[in-house]
Amino acid sequence: MDKIGNVDVSKIAEEFGTPAYVYDKSIIIENYNKLYAAFRKYYPNTKIHYSAKANTNLHILRIIKEQGGGVDCSSPVEFFLAQKAGFDNHRILYTGNYESYEDLRPVAFENLKLNLDDIESFKRLAEINIPELISFRINPGMGRGGHEGITTGGTEAKFGIPYEKAFDAYKLAKDSGVKRFGIHMMTGSNNLEPYFFAEIVDKLLIIAAELFGKLGEVPEYFDIGGGMGVPYSDEEQEMNIDLMAKLVSEVFTERCEKYGFGSPKLILEPGRFLVANAGYLIAKVTGIKRSYKTFAGLDAGMNTLIRPALYGAEHRVSIYNKPQGNNTINLCGQICENSDIFSKNTDMPELETGDLAVFRDAGAYCYAMASNYNNRMRPPEVLIDEGKAKLIRRRETIDDVLALYPAE
Ligand SMILES: Cc1ncc(COP(=O)(O)O)c(C=O)c1O
Repeated sequence: MDKIGNVDVSKIAEEFGTPAYVYDKSIIIENYNKLYAAFRKYYPNTKIHYSAKANTNLHILRIIKEQGGGVDCSSPVEFFLAQKAGFDNHRILYTGNYESYEDLRPVAFENLKLNLDDIESFKRLAEINIPELISFRINPGMGRGGHEGITTGGTEAKFGIPYEKAFDAYKLAKDSGVKRFGIHMMTGSNNLEPYFFAEIVDKLLIIAAELFGKLGEVPEYFDIGGGMGVPYSDEEQEMNIDLMAKLVSEVFTERCEKYGFGSPKLILEPGRFLVANAGYLIAKVTGIKRSYKTFAGLDAGMNTLIRPALYGAEHRVSIYNKPQGNNTINLCGQICENSDIFSKNTDMPELETGDLAVFRDAGAYCYAMASNYNNRMRPPEVLIDEGKAKLIRRRETIDDVLALYPAE
């Protein structure tokens, strides 16, 4: 990978330093339009709300807004950033987890679509305000994700209300004065199997039929979460989005008709699918060590990109201006943890200090999860737009770190 959006990788490294995250705007737009077009074709009343947690850079949020999308926020600061990016409140969802009073206060009077995690969250909200519209996140008793850490439905999941208990939450909301309702689920991330989405939508609709039948209400929207995956290795295939949209829309339409739900809004909350493959991480080789194994150290580590250390995730990596070779190399960072290893026993060209490594599919849950562990600074973020590279977040500095300490 020598160019990103037609800009030479070494030029980007020279101008912005390394490590650096780089995003290709045209790929984000292409991903959005692909998903939107597929659902518009099969179920026109579909809305896309980008899951801001995947990559909250204000400039990325603005790209989604320009395409006509909405946003899904998971915290007060994400809500604040969404507003700053220009989203109107009616285009903002708010889906928390164990929402505290502090999480609920800034959104309680904003007429957002609130997807509450539990009946207890509703009780806390009710002490602040009773909104007109409420939705609860349902755990449909099943889930699937690319790794255990990103499976968010099923009996081991900490998210949502078990579907058997959901009626109590809705009943309390109705008795407290809530007039309009939605229903939400999010069962796992990085799924590449179209049939899985149809299966969970089917389950949600069956749950909703019993629940809303008993409640005597019809939900205004069904939010089926995100979870659409991207391939992270050459062995994986891209998901067939058209097929996924077709299968989901078919089962959704059929069930809505059967249960008298009409044609409610179908909401999707994709994060990874919209931004993952638009992002790259450029890092520089800082040294080669011939130990029991051969290690190549980089100036990026688990502080920059934690997915491999966190759940054994893979990111394809190539070396600027060097063809793939057959030297067995372990690529690692500089952090004091032995889990700070990006790829084990990988075939690489002969490496030297100063080589540039380019990690692919680094647009989602990469910068967003970066830290300054070992007091390494977070990298800058760069956007490639029409062949030009623009800084969209500067590198963290020692002054940013010092600013957090009280004056002496
Ligand atoms: C509530 C909610 N919606 C949407 C998403 C986005 O998921 P993905 O990036 O897999 O599309 C997540 C991710 O964890 C989530 O928790």
